[in-house]
Amino acid sequence: MQAWSDKRRAEGKKIAFVPTMGYLHAGHLSLLEIGRKEGDSLILSIFVNPTQFGPTEDLDSYPRDLDADLAKAKEAGVDAVFVPQDSTLYQDNYQTFVKLEKLPNHLCGLSRPVFFRGVATVVTQLFNITRPHVAVFGQKDFQQLAVIRQMVADLKFGIKIIGAPIVREADGLAMSSRNAYLKPEQRAAALALSKTLAAAKTLVAQGERQTNVIQQKAREIFAQYPEIEIDYIELCDPVTIDSVETVKGETLMALAVNLQGIRLIDNTVLIP
Ligand code: PAF
Repeated sequence: MQAWSDKRRAEGKKIAFVPTMGYLHAGHLSLLEIGRKEGDSLILSIFVNPTQFGPTEDLDSYPRDLDADLAKAKEAGVDAVFVPQDSTLYQDNYQTFVKLEKLPNHLCGLSRPVFFRGVATVVTQLFNITRPHVAVFGQKDFQQLAVIRQMVADLKFGIKIIGAPIVREADGLAMSSRNAYLKPEQRAAALALSKTLAAAKTLVAQGERQTNVIQQKAREIFAQYPEIEIDYIELCDPVTIDSVETVKGETLMALAVNLQGIRLIDNTVLIP
C-alpha cells in the first residue's frame, strides 16, 4: 500500500483517503464522492479496528460484508482498497498508542474509555501507510472528527481533513453500519434522536438559548420511549467539545443512547 501511494505521489498525484470499518452505506459513499472530487487517486480502507472497542462492546458482531463493500467501492470509482489483517497493523509486541489529553474527556470518550485512543492510533497508522494529501471523515462521529483534526494539527501530519455532512434515511435516521442491528419494532425509538435534534433546532429558532431547557425538552422526548436509555444529551463548543450553558455561537448538540443494547449517536450544530 505504501509503495502504491509513493508511486502516485512521485507522479504528482493528489491522494484522497476515506478510512472506514466497512459495511458501506450511503453515508460512506458520500465520503467517497467527496474524496473522488478532492483527489486524483482515491483510497478506501476497510478495517474493523479492535483497539477502539471495549471488552464488552460489539467487535465480534460488528457487521461485515467485504464482497458487497468491494462492489460498492468499484462503483464509487475507488482506485485502491486497503484491507489489512489485524496482525499487519498490530503485529506481535505492538506497544505504541496515540492518546489525546483533553478531547476524549467528553461525550463518547466517557462511556467508551478506549475508543479515541484506538481511533487515533489506527488512523495514525492508516495515514502513514496510505500517505494521503486529504482525508474525509463523517460529521456523524463529530467528536471523532474533532479528535482527528486536533491530532493532525498537533502532530503536523500535513493532511487536509474534510468533515462531510451526515447522510440520513428518508425518515431522518442518521446512516450508520450499526443500524443493521435495528429490528423493525425498534425503528420508531431510533427516530427519537433525529426528532430530538429537530425539536432543539425549533427551540433555538424560537429564541431559546438555555442548555438546560433544551436538554429538558430532549429528555421529555426520550421519555416516550422506555426502551431507550440515555447516555448523554450535551451542548458543547464544536472545537473543544467543552459543555456550554447557553447557545451563543455555533453549538454542537450531541446525543448518545442505548436502545436495548444498540448504541446510537447523532448530532447537529445549533445556530442561534
Ligand atoms: O469512523 C470509523 O469508521 C472508524 O472509527 C475509523 C475512523 C475508520 C477508525 O477505525
